[in-house]
Amino acid sequence: MSIVNEFNEVFGTRENSVSFLSPGRINLIGEHTDYNDGYVFPSAISSGTYGVVSLREDSLIRVYSANFSEDGIIELDLNDLKRHDLQWPNYIIGMVTFLKEEGYQIDKGWDFYIKGTIPNGAGLSSSASLEILVATVVKELFGLDVSDLELIRLGKKVENEFIGVNSGIMDQFGIVKGRKNKAVLLNCQTLEFEHVTVDLKEHQIVIMNTNKKRQLSDSDYNSRQKESAEAFEILKRERGISSMSEVTLEMLLTLEDTLGEVLFKRVRHIVTESARTLLSYQALNKGDLDGFGELLNQSHRSLRDDYEVSCLELDTLVETAWEQPGVLGARMMGAGFGGCSMAIVSEKEVPAFIEAVGAKYKEVIGYEADFYIETIGDGPRVLD
Ligand code: GLA
Repeated sequence: MSIVNEFNEVFGTRENSVSFLSPGRINLIGEHTDYNDGYVFPSAISSGTYGVVSLREDSLIRVYSANFSEDGIIELDLNDLKRHDLQWPNYIIGMVTFLKEEGYQIDKGWDFYIKGTIPNGAGLSSSASLEILVATVVKELFGLDVSDLELIRLGKKVENEFIGVNSGIMDQFGIVKGRKNKAVLLNCQTLEFEHVTVDLKEHQIVIMNTNKKRQLSDSDYNSRQKESAEAFEILKRERGISSMSEVTLEMLLTLEDTLGEVLFKRVRHIVTESARTLLSYQALNKGDLDGFGELLNQSHRSLRDDYEVSCLELDTLVETAWEQPGVLGARMMGAGFGGCSMAIVSEKEVPAFIEAVGAKYKEVIGYEADFYIETIGDGPRVLD
């Protein structure tokens, strides 16, 4: 059934409905560097969150998510927007609230059918995908003159201030600036970015989902963010830096005792990961896929040992992936503590790869992992 028919089944047939797609994202490399003024390298993916909307004459937003069908239609009033007991409507409420606070005129409600084709809470940014879907819908319905950067910043603000995750800017940036077959090399300090062609030759991007659920707001994500801020304060005091991007490995080595073991490791990850991201950019530009793959593997080791955001489930997938034929590289992806990892695998080896890694995962962890082939797609858009 088409997405419009699904809308019609829930809300009744409308003449004026418009369909949208906001993608999810992967991150090639550059993990936990965004809130540390480092480099990241995300790409939008072909799957994401679909939306069908039809403008109403009153002030109600009536929203239904196919992913939470048990919740039925949720009714929100534009004139009385407040936090919801359920989590998923808060991404919508947060974005609309902040757009209104910026002074944008949003004076009518709409019926809103939502369907995500990326797993929730799995590290493919289902939440940023939904925030940007809402922003794109509102921009289109009300003809708002709002820049990409403003939408990106508002999406981050929803996470930080409405949901309570102190995340960086990577997810929203990668989604809004997404382009088919391109990754976005982003300097998170200056917000300068470049679209880079990703030509993996005969390889595919295989996403390996641990199916270990996590709620970022409850997780150690905020504690890593806090440790980074603490380390930054020490480095600022000791070396007069004004951004984490000024820290070099040489500088860090002189501060091992002052920082203490844990903070030293955290900063070592930040510095080396940002450097690996720039090296990956160079490797991809040169077509050096083996070099790129090796950087992915190093990234995983650093996230596992220095930043300590991996877990048995992610390590089992990634380390088993490393042993398979035709694998350029593999690493955990996104915040960590569960969610997804990624491997770049030769196309002809993919079925055997999935079978071998899946079997090992089941044996060690006791339940199944899921595998998806992802392609790099365009940013948020109106669908014909
Ligand atoms: C989550 C956050 C991002 C980023 C990654 C880790 O996806 O939303 O801002 O920090 O984790 O790289």
